Order: sequence, then C-alpha cells, then structure tokens
Amino acid sequence: MADHSDDPVQLQYEQFPYPHRDPADEATRLVTGSPSHLAEIRHYLYAGQLDVTRGFRALIAGGGTGDAAIMLAQQLADAGGGEVVYLDMSTAARAIAEARAQARGLTNITFVTGSLTDVAALDLGRFDYIDCCGVLHHLEDPPAGMRALAQALRADVATVGGGMGVMVYAPYGRTGVYPMQQMLAQLAGDRPLTDQIATVRRLWDQLPASNWLRRNPFVGDHKRSDAELVDLLLHARDRSYTVPEFAELLSTGGLRPAAFLEPARYDPATYLNDPKLLQPLGTAGLVDRAAFAERLTGAMKKHIAYVVPADASDPVAQLDDGAVPMMPGSDPAALVGQLGGASPKLTITLDGQKRSFPLPRLTAPILRQADGTRAVGEIVDRLCNADRGLNPETARRQIGELYAVLNGLNLMLLSRSI
Ligand SMILES: C[S@@+](CC[C@H](N)C(=O)[O-])C[C@H]1O[C@@H](n2cnc3c(N)ncnc32)[C@H](O)[C@@H]1O
Repeated sequence: MADHSDDPVQLQYEQFPYPHRDPADEATRLVTGSPSHLAEIRHYLYAGQLDVTRGFRALIAGGGTGDAAIMLAQQLADAGGGEVVYLDMSTAARAIAEARAQARGLTNITFVTGSLTDVAALDLGRFDYIDCCGVLHHLEDPPAGMRALAQALRADVATVGGGMGVMVYAPYGRTGVYPMQQMLAQLAGDRPLTDQIATVRRLWDQLPASNWLRRNPFVGDHKRSDAELVDLLLHARDRSYTVPEFAELLSTGGLRPAAFLEPARYDPATYLNDPKLLQPLGTAGLVDRAAFAERLTGAMKKHIAYVVPADASDPVAQLDDGAVPMMPGSDPAALVGQLGGASPKLTITLDGQKRSFPLPRLTAPILRQADGTRAVGEIVDRLCNADRGLNPETARRQIGELYAVLNGLNLMLLSRSI
C-alpha cells in the first residue's frame, strides 16, 4: 500500500475536515442530498426494484465528515437491511463521521482509514453501490482512482443492478476559481493555512469589479465556513471536468453515465424552445445532450451522475402502470398549494435563473393520490372513479406529463414491487 502521509490533500483534510458538521445536529435533522439517497439509488440503478433486506453493501469512498454515509446508513437502517463502509484518508473527518453515527445509534457503518486508490489491498470486499462525491478531482491520478473503484463493484452489477453515484467539479460555473487559487498560491502558498485564509479575505475585499470570481454569481461556498473557503480557494489539488471529460474519466473504469442530476438541468429543451435549434439534438445521446446543456448555461459548477458498467442495460426506472411514484423529502399535498389552480405551473430557480414548467390540468388530483404506495394503474383507477367523465388514457397521459417535469427536477422518483 502506498504511503500517503505527506499528500497535501490529506494534510488539508486533517486540518479542515469537510464539510463542516457538528454531530450534535444529528438530534434535529438528517442531511439528505444527491447522490446516494436510497430512493435515487433504487430509481437510477435498479429500475425501481431494490430490496435491501436481501443484502446490500455500499462503499462511501472519500466519505469526509459523513453526509452520504450517515444518510444512506440511516435510510438502510430504516429499511431493515444493508451495510455501509466509510473510507477516507482523513482521521479528523472520520472522527466527526463516527460521532455522527454514534449520535444516531447507527451500527451498520464500518469506518476505515485509507486511500480509495488502495481499495483492493484494504480487502473490503465487493460492493453493490459506491458513492464518490467530490473526491476524484482531488486525486493525483483520477483515472487510477476511477479504475480502483470500478474494480471494487460486484462483478455482476451490469446484470443485477447497482453502480456508482459520482460527483466531480465542472468548469464553467467555477469561472474565476482557478485564477483566484493561482493568485493565492503566489501570495501565500508557502504559509500555514490559517494565514492563507486571512489572505483570501484581504484579497477578496480588493478584487476589481472585472474579476471573474467576483462576477460569478454561482460561487458562494467560501462565505459559509473556513472549511468551505479552504476547499474552494486554497485547495492543495483540484481540477474540474466538462461533461465529455467526465464521461471520458468514467470510461477509464469501463463505466458510463446512466443519468445526470437533475435530469432537466442537462436537457437542452429546458432552456431552448426553438424547434429549429432543438431538432439537430433530437437524436443525440445522453452525454452529447448534457454537454450541450453545460455549454449553453455556463452555470454548472459540478456534475452528479449515476453510473453503470458500459455494457449494462438501461437501469433507470420507467413510468408504467406498475411504477409507484414517490416524492422523497417533499409532501405532494403541500406542493399542490403552490402550483396554482386552473393552469398549474411549477416555478423554480435553476442555477440562478427562474424557470416555469407548465403542468397538466389534473396535477392536483394526481398528487393527492400519489402517496408513495400507489402504483400508476391504481392512481388512474382512483382518478377515473372520482370523475366518471375522465378517460383512463387522459389520466395516464397527464400522469406522464407531470412525472416528466417532477422527475426532471429530481422531485419524483419511482419504485416497483419485486
Ligand atoms: C471535498 S471532501 C468530500 C467529502 C464527502 N464525500 C462529501 O461529499 O461531503 C473530499 C474528501 O475526500 C477525501 N480524500 C481525498 N483523497 C482521498 C483518497 N485518495 N482516498 C480516500 N479519501 C480521500 C478527503 O480526505 C476528504 O474527506
């Protein structure tokens, strides 16, 4: 196993474990997010069918202070099966993650200190699912890390389901970050991190109005905590990936993206409505459409994707009568109140821009029936029983239209019984 003790990235995360978390907060909230929410894993990697009571092993590679490990372990404990292995080089980050697990009484996490590039030598076994969020872009050799993780997946994930949830930085939304990192290295790169933090604040206050970081409305992490500031502007090593570069990195591990999150952000049709412009993109594949959307918005600062072996069949759940729509983390009934009555629409801010998505007429009655246990077929029956004049095909079509919008924003996912 290689010695990583003088790796500047490890030294940084020993001093500033990321993200900043207080284990006492576990008493009041569970941090949830993407990737690695159990409902997303089921939807994007198991076509909606995953029973964790039959065994499920997840590796959180570069687990930091524990957000993904704690979320998934809690969700697995609630679902009655499965286990999590947390792996990170930073003992300081691990101590916080362990304290969070302890605060929740979670006993389904194994904590390991080490490098993900050594995952085979660490003898941790194979995994159904691997989370690697915000880590690969910090490695000296990201393709080597990608390959190591791909080889730690169960050999049969292409056929039985499973894969990875990966997040890497993206360049356009981080415009201005790298010149700022370079200036800070020139000014104070050889000084202790605490001095460098003071230099950031001093330089920040004097950035000319023309500076790209100052003009970049998408970057605000440095305003939250010192850990976030160090991660963004004083990082010992980081790079970013365009969509095609990200796909290329995945391919070094024999993997491909199955879905980008949120799907609508990666769909050119979210931003353009001119059929002449959209027509040439109609036959483009997932990566090419996502690459176009990235170039078009100029706002993406990270990419999140669920990824599978290149030869896996499509693992993403599809809407049909047997699919059960669910809205993890939001209350469909509460959403109804925000959508407007006769011509409902959903208005949200996507990468700093307000967008309105028109919704079908039956949105409110559909959402009232979509309680996370009823399949589409049952929802159609209930809608038609309540309104004798309603044609089942009309109900089904409008469920499809509503699903397209809500799933596009990652607000609605599917499961199906096994
Ligand atoms: C930006 S933090 C992300 C933490 C966590 N994944 C999250 O999203 O909240 C990066 C983490 O990766 C860890 N890390 C960096 N290189 C690593 C490696 N080669 N093996 C394992 N962990 C590593 C760092 O110690 C740090 O905790």
